[in-house]
Amino acid sequence: MYFHYLVWFWIPLSLADSGAHHLCQRTCFCKEGALFVNCSGVHVSSDLTFPPETEHLDLSNSNLYSIPSKGLRSLWKLQVLLLRDNYISRIEERAFVSLERLHKLDICRNEISFLGNSFSLGLISLHELTLASNRLQELHYKSFRNFENLQKLNLQNNNISSIETGAFRSLTRLRKLYLQNNQLHTLHNGVFSMLQHLEVLNLEGNMIKNIAPGVFHSLSSLTVLNLVQNKIEHIRFKTFLSLQTPGTHILLSDNPWFCDCDLQRVFAKLHSVRRLILDDYDNVTCVEPQVLRSLPLSSVDTQLCIAETVTVLVITFTVFVTVVAAIVMAERNRKKRTGKHWSEDSEVSYESHHCLNH
Ligand SMILES: *[C@@H]1O[C@H](CO)[C@@H](O)[C@H](O)[C@H]1NC(C)=O
Ligand SMILES: *[C@@H]1O[C@H](CO)[C@@H](O)[C@H](O)[C@H]1NC(C)=O
Ligand SMILES: *[C@@H]1O[C@H](CO)[C@@H](O)[C@H](O)[C@H]1NC(C)=O
Repeated sequence: MYFHYLVWFWIPLSLADSGAHHLCQRTCFCKEGALFVNCSGVHVSSDLTFPPETEHLDLSNSNLYSIPSKGLRSLWKLQVLLLRDNYISRIEERAFVSLERLHKLDICRNEISFLGNSFSLGLISLHELTLASNRLQELHYKSFRNFENLQKLNLQNNNISSIETGAFRSLTRLRKLYLQNNQLHTLHNGVFSMLQHLEVLNLEGNMIKNIAPGVFHSLSSLTVLNLVQNKIEHIRFKTFLSLQTPGTHILLSDNPWFCDCDLQRVFAKLHSVRRLILDDYDNVTCVEPQVLRSLPLSSVDTQLCIAETVTVLVITFTVFVTVVAAIVMAERNRKKRTGKHWSEDSEVSYESHHCLNH
């Protein structure tokens, strides 16, 4: 009986061992036993198994078309997994479910267009996730639900046009969020809710035109907000006033600013709030109206309200003249009427006299 058990145990263990041994001897480069396994540049098959003690696994540039989920299943000790520069387009359900110690996951420069509902399952220790340079289009709450310890999320160079409201609401420890070079058009209220530890929000190179006034409201630790190279024509003072950090650097250049008196007033007010630092204000240039195209807002901003002031003065003057004229006319009418009264009276008396005669 005992012997049987031993045999049944011994066979799979020894097979796994020899597989891993084989891997380190022939295919990949291993260090410190198999704590570090480097298969980078080696064309590995996706049903490969890895030594169970592995803590760092480099599978970058390994000609992978899918995540080797089966091989990852027993790597309870894995801390770093590099999968960059492959051809992965799909992440299977529960692909990382065993990797509860994983700190860093890098899947940049692949072809992923969709993150499933169970993408984050198991990854409760993950600190850093890189999904840069993939083909993502939409982000959903369910894909990020278990990333409670995530501090850095890199989603730059994708095709993201839609982020579900509250998509990041589990990421309460997030400090850096990179969303530059995507296709975002609008920032809705609630999209960054619960990110009270976020320090860096990079939205450079999107198509953002509309920013809901409360969208930055919960970002109480933000130090850098990059909105360079978007489609912003106008902003509201309230939008940035809701940032309560002692110092937030806001970058706004390279947008198609519509320079009018309103915009000048918004910027004047922003400049007066000491905790908001507009680092690239000198590079904020007008695109509309045509006469101001390419001029820095800082060079024209004192003039933008002049036309409005002149209009106000003209209106005030017109109203004043009208009122004066009306008073004069009224006075004249009154005098006229008093004069007429006499004749009317005489007429009446004449008429009444006439009637009496009748
Ligand atoms: C793995 O090896 C490649 C060279 O073969 C090297 O460029 C890469 O930095 C190594 N990875 C790690 C994590 O050390
Ligand atoms: C980007 O997303 C749009 C839909 O939002 C799609 O039509 C387009 O093909 C995508 N582009 C790439 C390069 O994946
Ligand atoms: C302003 O633009 C110039 C030229 O594009 C660039 O060299 C400079 O670094 C920019 N300044 C800031 C503060 O962004």
